[in-house]
Amino acid sequence: MKFSQQSHLDKRKKGDVLVIPFWKGKKGVKSASSLGNNFQKFLNPVLSTRDFKGNEGEVLFQYIDDQVERRIVLLGLGEEERLSKESLRLTYGTVSKQLIQKRLQHLNVIIPEQDLLPDNQLIQAITEGLLLPNYHFYRHKQLDSEDQPLLLESIQWIGKDKNALEISQEVALVIESVNYARDLVNGNADDVTPQHLIECAHDISKTHTSIKTKVLHKKDIEKEKMGLLLAVNRGSFRDPALIIMQYQGNPKSKDLTIVVGKGVTYDTGGLNLKPTGGMETMKSDMAGGAACFGAILSAAKLKLKVNLTVLIPTTENSIDANSFKPGDVYVSYTGKTVEMTNSDAEGRLILADALAYACKKYQPTRILDIATLTGAIDVALGPEASGIMSTNDELAQFLIQAGQSTYERLWRMPLFEEYKEVLKSDIADIKSWNGRSGSSNVAATFLRAFVDESIPWAHLDIAGTAYLEKPKKYMAKYATGFGVRLIVEFLKLLARS
Ligand code: BES
Ligand code: ZN
Ligand code: ZN
Repeated sequence: MKFSQQSHLDKRKKGDVLVIPFWKGKKGVKSASSLGNNFQKFLNPVLSTRDFKGNEGEVLFQYIDDQVERRIVLLGLGEEERLSKESLRLTYGTVSKQLIQKRLQHLNVIIPEQDLLPDNQLIQAITEGLLLPNYHFYRHKQLDSEDQPLLLESIQWIGKDKNALEISQEVALVIESVNYARDLVNGNADDVTPQHLIECAHDISKTHTSIKTKVLHKKDIEKEKMGLLLAVNRGSFRDPALIIMQYQGNPKSKDLTIVVGKGVTYDTGGLNLKPTGGMETMKSDMAGGAACFGAILSAAKLKLKVNLTVLIPTTENSIDANSFKPGDVYVSYTGKTVEMTNSDAEGRLILADALAYACKKYQPTRILDIATLTGAIDVALGPEASGIMSTNDELAQFLIQAGQSTYERLWRMPLFEEYKEVLKSDIADIKSWNGRSGSSNVAATFLRAFVDESIPWAHLDIAGTAYLEKPKKYMAKYATGFGVRLIVEFLKLLARS
């Protein structure tokens, strides 16, 4: 995406369309920028009809005989006092989808004048609204050239905001990483395999030398005795891996954030095979791992002054004569024995080994994990929020704040001590699953048993938000890249604190 800026309307360069913002005022529609007033000649006849009311997300196309743009768009921002980052994302997302549909690629965008939000938040939200819909996944679809979507290519800001260019360029870098994550999640499970993820990690290190990649291959995983990751991998003909990527943006500091992302490249459920209707979206079961890729990529591109290590345990959960067997006991990396009560509860197994390994080898300041862990979190919260379970209020609060700001919202769920009771096993130190009751929180409680108690930890369950079966606001359906913007915002908050 190319950005440019002009402070005066008459200096602007050619574009496909000019986007002019309006408020819904008490007495009718009101220009949201003094620059918009230059178009009175074209606007008066339109506005006098009162067809256009300036409602949030209202879009009206006008075709004009002008050398600079042939189209203008009247864009409603809603009532000025109700402006928010999310209302901006929504509004600009709506217009963006329509522009993409019309195959318009070069936008001239008049920046609204307002006092409610800091300027940087205004530009950030507008850019996110314009760019988040600017993605498609038609890799496998044969389309006539007319139907090939053309994505937006350039945005020319018109207005005086000092940091508009810098901020929008930053947002675009983060959204590139969001789309990187989306591509991985949308890709076929037979293409996006553990081996493919390993290659991705190495490629990322090659282009971003500030990111170091280390991979534990099957032999190393055996040597380290990660019995749970190996158990889940038994049914797969593809080897597992533990991918580790490190970014040191603040080498003088010992502060270290670790994020562990679930990388199940396909979840059949194993011997507790998923039914028809439950399996078809399970190429998305590595979305937590994909978010880790996106987050570390963003950290490197933005040169954030933080230290971030991501770990992605990755394997398929396949069904095979060699699959691990419900009822059997396996020994985890920590030495704790686990009674496997359901082979479809595979995410917590591979995360348990990776979390324990991360705590032991790196002693991080804080540790997060992000995973499409339980269908129950989708039942509880739907696609509106991901669940967060945490042993540390301050860490939880920071993450929830980052969630508010990016609108990748988090809703805190409990980690009651009583959940530990239901995971007691007669034949092993812990069991992996105990039925549907409190399923998301019990799953988190299982993970908790493998995290060093002295390290603040938070678990993000993104099973309801990572992959949409219907489009939502400015998000196309399928992979959302949930977690990338959230983690980046969280790291920025950390760097500032
Ligand atoms: N990958 C699934 C969770 C999931 C479900 C993600 C739906 C996205 C959409 C996970 O491994 C799983 O199978 N969980 C089971 C838990 C149970 C059988 C132990 C579930 O939630 O149904
Ligand atoms: Zn499963
Ligand atoms: Zn799974």
